[in-house]
Amino acid sequence: MTPWEVKGEVDYDRLVRDFGTSYIEQSLLDRVEKHVGKPHFMLKRKVFFSHRDFNWILDKYEKGEKFFLYTGRGPSGDTHLGHLLPWIFTQYLQEKFDVELYFQITDDEKYMHDRTLTRKQVSDFSYENILDIIALGFDPEKTFIFKNTEYIKTMYKISTDIAKHITFSTAKGIFGFQNSSNIGMIFFPSLQAATCFLPSELKGKNIPCLIPAAIDQDDYWRGIAREIAPKLGYYKPAQIHSKFLPALQRGEKMSASKPNTAIFTTDEPEVAEKKIKSAFTGGRDTIEEHRKHGGNPDIDSAFQYLYMILEEDDKKISEIEEDYRAGNLLSGELKQIAAEKTKVFLKEHQRKRESAKKTFDKFILRD
Ligand code: TRP
Repeated sequence: MTPWEVKGEVDYDRLVRDFGTSYIEQSLLDRVEKHVGKPHFMLKRKVFFSHRDFNWILDKYEKGEKFFLYTGRGPSGDTHLGHLLPWIFTQYLQEKFDVELYFQITDDEKYMHDRTLTRKQVSDFSYENILDIIALGFDPEKTFIFKNTEYIKTMYKISTDIAKHITFSTAKGIFGFQNSSNIGMIFFPSLQAATCFLPSELKGKNIPCLIPAAIDQDDYWRGIAREIAPKLGYYKPAQIHSKFLPALQRGEKMSASKPNTAIFTTDEPEVAEKKIKSAFTGGRDTIEEHRKHGGNPDIDSAFQYLYMILEEDDKKISEIEEDYRAGNLLSGELKQIAAEKTKVFLKEHQRKRESAKKTFDKFILRD
């Protein structure tokens, strides 16, 4: 796994060990509950499963020192539900803790990484992706979305402060750069790390940073931002890590070039329904066998969509899970439940996405 490629089945326990992160434990959930009430279902269900220094963020918060949130998007394609997952959780954190969010759009990264992507494509994807972000209900007064190419004047100073401390050999060790890598990509990590310190720089005082993101981005925080922070006099950024929503077809990666592997936010609800119906299941080959032995929700894409993102109701999801394991619920019936939920979600999201066109400029940070 690298920030640019996630292959095969992910062993999350191994990542926690290798990256030296901590599991999200009950004591942490209790602490969250004390401040903001019932924790988000993604926390309880371990969709967000790992963290680094989240306790420290809460220590600071308890002393009246508010943190800010930082997350981002590389605009290399259309938005699918897997992208929305950490953003939905980020919106919850913003709302409950009433904090600012800096949202970085790495149009430079994607343009340089993929030789086949044109400037125009990256710019179009940026716009479309930002509509999806805004549609999730972020606070316009407290949310700052910026594209690197448009905000580079502010970002450049912090990036060069960082870059100055990182040798090519370190960057190579972390990100696997080769002699054939283009030099833009070699500099790029300093830009992704720079946002960790951006509000501190803008406001002239240290502000704690919490990054909700999928765990594949951890190299930037562990390898760069946290190493450099003390040298530049900033706090080390804290992280909270999510798992990946599986592709609808097993063993495939969700991808814009294989539309059947994912539900895109702009899919017609009926198209999404068909995709769910053809998804990989944890059901048995025949109804008789299924009734007798039960299905396996752990590998069932329809179930995972409900569990990880679509069904907030804990009671409902455990009923579905139990019925499926017991063989009372057939995989066709499970898919029907997931398809209905998906259609409702998409209709609502698409409506909000349309109105995001009107509020777009309120969210954008430019030099
Ligand atoms: N590199 C990320 C991507 O390819 C985009 C990104 C920038 C990001 N800053 C981030 C993602 C912070 C998560 C958190 O999608």
